[in-house]
Amino acid sequence: MPPARAHTHRASARQQERLTTTTTILRRPRPRPPAPAPATMASGALYNPPRDVTPEDRNSLMPLLRQLTSAPDVSEEAFAARVAMLNRDGDGDAMPRQFCVVVPRTSDNCIVATASVTFEYKLLRSCAVCAHVEDVVVDASARGAGLGKMVVDACVQRARAVEGCYKVILDCAEKNVAFYEKLGFQRKEVQMAMYL
Ligand SMILES: CC(C)(COP(=O)(O)OP(=O)(O)OC[C@H]1O[C@@H](n2cnc3c(N)ncnc32)[C@H](O)[C@@H]1OP(=O)(O)O)[C@@H](O)C(=O)NCCC(=O)NCCS
Repeated sequence: MPPARAHTHRASARQQERLTTTTTILRRPRPRPPAPAPATMASGALYNPPRDVTPEDRNSLMPLLRQLTSAPDVSEEAFAARVAMLNRDGDGDAMPRQFCVVVPRTSDNCIVATASVTFEYKLLRSCAVCAHVEDVVVDASARGAGLGKMVVDACVQRARAVEGCYKVILDCAEKNVAFYEKLGFQRKEVQMAMYL
């Protein structure tokens, strides 16, 4: 993503395109719902329900991420180490830090959709938690079949399961605002960034 400039009263069109979209999640712990059964999409292709990323996903996940932004190949070892770090909290951890969810195509296990959710543990609001959804992308061949909604919903479900998590926020381009609004998000404030 290109760097955004500091906000001024004379914000450029590009700055105005950079948005932070926020929705509020009820602040109470809830168990994670059971995963849905595999579903046939409009295209006729069959996809498995969202699951956590595994080291075996590297070969299809990295090219998928390149449809979103710069994602140079990483070694098998580096990928596996990062996945182990992401997954070390495990299912049911009361204070997870991050999940990367992926949707595999049933026929070949190729990853065709992904999203990540990261948890920010705050001091304010009585030590509340804020969830950040990032890196949402669906393979170009599989868009419009409900997979984008599926991976974002999976992230929101993870957030709902974290005690004290009261909102889910994300940044998106103007062209994706309607997509997130369909999923229940609301336009809120603006995004600021400093690239290091
Ligand atoms: C944005 C993206 C993730 C959407 O994924 P998708 O699988 O095509 O979306 P879905 O099929 O789940 O769409 C869910 C609903 O949102 C609608 N929708 C999808 N993209 C939309 C858009 N850009 N604008 C308006 N509505 C949109 C769909 O029509 C569908 O509506 P319906 O429930 O009434 O049928 C996908 O287009 C993509 O990967 N784009 C490139 C990467 C990107 O921009 N990622 C977002 C980074 S913030």
